[in-house]
This record gives sequence, structure tokens and C-alpha cells, in this order.
Amino acid sequence: MGSDPQIGQSVDSFVQNNSAELLDVRTKLEFEQGHYKAAANIPLSQISERVHEFPNRNIPLRVCVNQENCQEAIASIKQKGYQIQNLLVWNELVKNKLNELNLLESGNQKNRIWQPARVVEYFQSQWGHHINKGIALDLACGTGRDATYLATQGWQVTAIDYLSNSLSKAQELAGHQGVKIQTHCLDLEDKEIAIELPAFNLTTVVRYLHRPLFPWIDRHLAKNGFLVYQTFLEGSEKFGQPKRPRFLLKYGELAKAFSHYRILLDEVEYLEDGRPTNIFIAQK
Ligand SMILES: C[S@@+](CC[C@H](N)C(=O)[O-])C[C@H]1O[C@@H](n2cnc3c(N)ncnc32)[C@H](O)[C@@H]1O
Repeated sequence: MGSDPQIGQSVDSFVQNNSAELLDVRTKLEFEQGHYKAAANIPLSQISERVHEFPNRNIPLRVCVNQENCQEAIASIKQKGYQIQNLLVWNELVKNKLNELNLLESGNQKNRIWQPARVVEYFQSQWGHHINKGIALDLACGTGRDATYLATQGWQVTAIDYLSNSLSKAQELAGHQGVKIQTHCLDLEDKEIAIELPAFNLTTVVRYLHRPLFPWIDRHLAKNGFLVYQTFLEGSEKFGQPKRPRFLLKYGELAKAFSHYRILLDEVEYLEDGRPTNIFIAQK
């Protein structure tokens, strides 16, 4: 981690260092009254419960704070393992200067610093935007980054996980982005998944594997529907979780399981920590 950012750095140096993600940790009200253009707002008091809304830890942050809780904000963000590249202590002078530079916004902006899975974004950019009024299913959705992202792109999203706490966070994440998602708390490894669902135009599964679910996924995908899958490959266990073979794909397994689909992408993507994953897109 780098040294402490200089408190009260000038607006100019803050503006110039624009390679980092912009986070404003002032209250929602203060943020709405005026903030740096394109900043995301996670108030200091909510950082612990909204840490899943932060980007990867290798991405540095530019942070807007109030003078009175500046030290607390630095400590809280650094304690979560993030590096602060620049700090802007908010006051009237800063606000006026940003206004002069045309970098001041007000109101409830829905900027985000979290990222959906790259393969989901890629699917959306290549194929999704043609059919973005469709219905999508996100399996093992966790705290809902892909479900929320897809909802912001116009999909009507149903998201499933077996952790109700994660689903609450997913609902909140969608709310912060001004969209709605439908969530169901279900165990995807139950023999009988006790829910009636339609056939979806898109199913996404990211970082989850339960091979016996493949026929169920197929049954719940509409004709011409897309399957976007990303999960860990054998070899990941050398770098971290998961380690058990039942959670690790062999390369080529997805292509074999969905060989009756039109395969649009079947590649290996390495995560920042070295774990290999299979990124897979296919059309039924
Ligand atoms: C590594 S996380 C991935 C979350 C999300 N897809 C993402 O990429 O951010 C795996 C998720 O699978 C969920 N999960 C694991 N076993 C499950 C099961 N039997 N039924 C439903 N969800 C399950 C976990 O609760 C967790 O949210």
C-alpha cells in the first residue's frame, strides 16, 4: 500500500490523476447537493456493508471526503485493503473550482465503481443490446453485480442464490442503480428446485458450478436464448479457492455439455490472482 495521500491536495492535482476510480464518502444528502462529476457515492457509515460495491483491490481510488471525518475515511478504506491515490477534502472553494472546470454535478447520480463480470459485459456489447428487453436469469448471483448490470441494460432479471443476506444486498445494489430485480432464495443443488420459472432469453452463471444443474439450465433457456458462463478451471486450486474437483471445470467441459448450442465464445480468462476460468457464450 502506498503512503498516505496528502490531505487537502489541490483540485488541480486531483483532476489530473484521473486513472483511479472516483469515490465520494460524504453523506447522500451532501453528495446530492454537489459532487465531482461521475463519482460514486458510498457514505462512510455504509462502507463496511457495501464493500462489495468497491472495484478490484488493484484499482486505486480517488476519494472525496469531509474535513471532519477525513482520517476515519482513510483508515476505513485502507483497512479494507484499498489504496487511495488522491484525496479531495470538500469545501465551498473546492465546489466553486469544480464548477468552473465544469466538473460539478448535483442530484442522485447512479455512478458505480464496481464491475460486472467482463464476459457478461462482452456478451451485452456484442449480442445483448439487440434483445435487451428480454428476460434474464442469473444463477448463484451473490450480491448481484451481474444481475444489476443486466437490469441497467434493459433486461428483466430474475436472480437466484441460497444466501438471503446476499440477495438483500443484491436488491440494494439494484436500488442504488435505480433498477429492480426479482430475487429467489433457493438451493440450486436440491434435487427438485421448487419454483416455476419461464424459459429465459439469457442465463448467466458466474463463478459457480454444479454439473447436475446443466439439464435444468437447458430446460429453462428459450430457443435462441443465450447462455453466458464463467467459472474456475482446473489449476485454480494452486492460487486459491475453489480447490475441490467438483467445483473445477476441465477446459472443454462446457462446450461438451452444451454441444447442441451454437458456441460463440469458449476461451480461458485468467483472473488477476492467476486463477484460470473458462469464459463461455453459446446460443440455443
Ligand atoms: C463465488 S460466488 C459468485 C457470485 C456471483 N455470481 C458473482 O460472480 O459475483 C458463488 C455464489 O454461489 C452461491 N451458491 C453456492 N451454492 C449454492 C447453492 N447450492 N444454491 C444457490 N446458490 C449457491 C453462493 O451463495 C455465492 O453467492
